[in-house]
Amino acid sequence: MKVKIKNICCIGGGYVGGPTMSVIADKCNHIQVNVVDVNLKRINLWNSNNLDNLPIYEPGLKEIVERRRGKNLFFSSDLEKHISCADMIFISVNTPTKIRGEGAGKASDLKWVEASARKVAEFARGHTIVVEKSTLPVRTANVIKEILEAAQSSSSSKNPATFDVLSNPEFLAEGSAVKDLEQPDRVLIGGENENAIFALNDIYKNWVPQQKILHTNIWSSELAKLTANAFLAQRISSINSIGALCEATGADVREVARAIGSDSRIGSKFLDSGPGFGGSCFKKDILNLVYLSNHFGLEEVARFWEGVVELNTWHQKRISRLVVSKLYGTVRGKKIGILGFSFKANTNDTRESSAISICKDLLEEGALLHIHDPRVDLNQIEIDLKLNEHSFSKKDENDNHNLEEGVWIYSNTIEEVFKSADAVLILTEWNEYSLIDWKSVSTKMRKPSWIFDARSVLNLADLKGTDLNFWRIGDGSLIN
Ligand code: NAD
Ligand code: UGA
Repeated sequence: MKVKIKNICCIGGGYVGGPTMSVIADKCNHIQVNVVDVNLKRINLWNSNNLDNLPIYEPGLKEIVERRRGKNLFFSSDLEKHISCADMIFISVNTPTKIRGEGAGKASDLKWVEASARKVAEFARGHTIVVEKSTLPVRTANVIKEILEAAQSSSSSKNPATFDVLSNPEFLAEGSAVKDLEQPDRVLIGGENENAIFALNDIYKNWVPQQKILHTNIWSSELAKLTANAFLAQRISSINSIGALCEATGADVREVARAIGSDSRIGSKFLDSGPGFGGSCFKKDILNLVYLSNHFGLEEVARFWEGVVELNTWHQKRISRLVVSKLYGTVRGKKIGILGFSFKANTNDTRESSAISICKDLLEEGALLHIHDPRVDLNQIEIDLKLNEHSFSKKDENDNHNLEEGVWIYSNTIEEVFKSADAVLILTEWNEYSLIDWKSVSTKMRKPSWIFDARSVLNLADLKGTDLNFWRIGDGSLIN
């Protein structure tokens, strides 16, 4: 029987739930979309009158929220109300790496998924299609099914709720979430029941061509999501490993990437060497794959993927060590400017950002960091560095080098970052950093001054006529 969806509920209004449901509401005006979250602060921000206060920054998102909020897009903390009237429920909650117990440090913690399934079991009415949107280990659909079936069999109602479970992993990347959702390379739907599959298929068909909507069995869908992230992260570790070799040999990683990327079998995307991959998912999803491989007795497979994460950690350390070594082996009491703290441009997300580990290393070495990011606020950096911002005294303002060692300060402007700095390190590829007037800022720095460009943001020609020392990622031609 063909099922027509009229009311959707999404549990979890984060980086995936928020943008995904906004786009569904925008493309399907005939469907009411309710995003529910236990985090009331987040829900209040989604409902803020000032659209610049939405909890998530994504280009194009606030315009969609402005168009659809209060019409067919709603944000609420009332789970019972919206679960009970939904005919399709997306579970889009966080699935971080477990920090204790069996599988700690590798396996996904399914606590939030399980809690969501229990809420669905408690409040759902009639026939409900439950869609896994979160990234989950293979065979998690079974966990959800078991919880829902247990609720069915223990219900005293004459007409207990019935369920179908689908897997519909999300492939959006932060910073381009709206574009990725509006023009996806593919949409993946894994499941058993044809009616349920087509009910979800028909939602996407409102804007995605049918040939881009793939149907698979549920386990392939779950595993394809982990595999996609593992392959993408593997490319970054591969190019970063070659970048280190370039620096040692005189080759330039941008030239190597262009040369290999022109081979259509390799392709040009995801070959930008940088400070190491960050973001909430690559590391956690690979470690999950490692855990699963070990669980199924495939130790060689586990070791292969674990190497991708190990290379990334080594690479982040390599950058902080290199900065210390160029600054005569010590950064104690030296002012180092940090341009960019988010894990990539066009997002305010800092989860697993390479900037966190690099800044922590430099603070440990005694540096005075001045950190700038156009979208990340001071509080977030305090949380990430587990260190409050240093409070300024009048004396400090006049002489940056008299501050205590191993402290950091939030810079509201790029100019402040350069004032009396011994070095400036570019860690996120924000567009505004490529527009810096290097002749002007070089005069503000303490000599000898260093620029470390870990994102290939700078145009070498713009440094001509300055007295700046310059290092950039994977550029062996700068060996002197
Ligand atoms: P997030 O932490 O930004 O959002 C998750 C939200 O779920 C939070 O707001 C939290 O309060 C809410 N939540 C948790 N338990 C809840 C419950 N029981 N009831 C109601 N709300 C609850 O996480 P995210 O980045 O949106 O990621 C969600 C999932 O999507 C993860 O599995 C992740 O791996 C996957 N994913 C993320 C991205 C990305 O770019 N961030 C992309 C694709 C897939
Ligand atoms: C990634 C995937 O690209 C998405 O398809 C996936 O849905 C998502 O993870 C997820 O599951 O969470 P995201 O982490 O948002 O998306 O961002 P990416 O563009 O993949 O970048 C990840 C990290 O790799 C960033 O730190 C970025 O700077 C770095 N990167 C990316 C490079 O260093 N070089 C590159 O060439 C590309």
